[in-house]
Amino acid sequence: MSSIFKPTEIQGVSFQSICQEFGTPVYVYDGEKITNQVKSIQSAFGEIPLKIKYATKALSNINILKLIKKAGAGIDAVSIEEVRLGMMAGFQTDEIMYTPSGVSFEEIEEAVELGVMVNLDSIPLMRQFGEKYGSSVPACIRINPHILAGGNLKISTGHKASKFGISISLLDEILTVIKEKDLNIVGLHIHTGSDILDAEIFLKGANVLFEAAQNFPNLKFIDCGGGFKVAYKAGDPSTDIQEVGEKVSAAFRSFCDRYGRQLELWLEPGKFLVSESGFLLVKANVVKASSEITFVGVDTGLNHLIRPMMYDAYHDVYALNDPEGESEQYNVVGYICETDTIAAERKLGKVSAGDILVIKNAGAYGFSMASNYNSRLRPAEVLVWNGKAQLIRKREEFEDLIKNQVVLDL
Ligand code: LLP
Repeated sequence: MSSIFKPTEIQGVSFQSICQEFGTPVYVYDGEKITNQVKSIQSAFGEIPLKIKYATKALSNINILKLIKKAGAGIDAVSIEEVRLGMMAGFQTDEIMYTPSGVSFEEIEEAVELGVMVNLDSIPLMRQFGEKYGSSVPACIRINPHILAGGNLKISTGHKASKFGISISLLDEILTVIKEKDLNIVGLHIHTGSDILDAEIFLKGANVLFEAAQNFPNLKFIDCGGGFKVAYKAGDPSTDIQEVGEKVSAAFRSFCDRYGRQLELWLEPGKFLVSESGFLLVKANVVKASSEITFVGVDTGLNHLIRPMMYDAYHDVYALNDPEGESEQYNVVGYICETDTIAAERKLGKVSAGDILVIKNAGAYGFSMASNYNSRLRPAEVLVWNGKAQLIRKREEFEDLIKNQVVLDL
């Protein structure tokens, strides 16, 4: 008995045909799902001036960024390379928020030259930025709100001991530096973490900014970051975006009344927009029984999808030819030369070598965290859009692996 959504196709294009055409392993994305997720946030927040800045790091293929743009959102970029990808995808620089963490000042200068909004994440950076630009370049400040939230400590970014942002307890110093360096602060930002379920946490974070905002007279926007949780397994709750929208927008409206001006509210969802759109289709290479466990060894591993090993993340897995089957129990394991468990103790239909398995929730932090560990090649990416599957990234070849190696005559 299982009620979880186990698709075997996207927009009428079967996974089987995608595997036949593009091979395995392959990341497949449902473009329609992504644009629908953007719409669901837009409608949940109602009439307030909302700007969605998609967290590019979640899935940064240029075609995905183009879809995000088409849906009416901007982007948040955490590196100068993501800024460039966004520009290649057609975003105007004023649609790009640049939120780096501890980067060199040269990178900040490059961002300013490109014309994107810089999110300042330390007092030394505020000083340096002020010395160079004074009030001539408007900027945003990333506040650390001292809120511990998120599915895992590795992805909790707003607590006291986290490296991100400037502690809210340093507010006086922030204000002194702004005055001293004549900074033009037009935005305040937080990002508390990822996989945050509870609407109250988002409200709590927003309230920290609303309260602090009274000290910043030139604001144009308040950026509440991302972090909305998606469901990874049957019965797993996801953030009630409607509830967050209603609560945060009501609080935002009354904050704007108090502030005396209508500001914009910015959000930076990553997972919420792309996680469920993505599927990693893989092939069983071997089915191998040990004394207690039957392993299905597949043609992928933590080099392609690191989330299970990195965060103990649960990703639903099913056999394409028997999605609802539960007759056998398996550990689905990758081919990497260390513990590489993708899914432990899972009931699936009987799997034989050559069968296709589907790994769900592979849209966010799947390909974007993939590596060449074990000198393996990264997979192809395919986008299904308007009922058509199209290759959006070629499977790597051996030449890609060695192209930057400099072979000495030793
Ligand atoms: N804004 C900022 C400044 C961020 O650092 C992040 C994510 C986001 C927005 C988007 O968060 P999201 O809506 O995707 O939760 N690799 C981890 C997640 C790391 C998130 C880091 N920051 C994972 O696979 O769970």
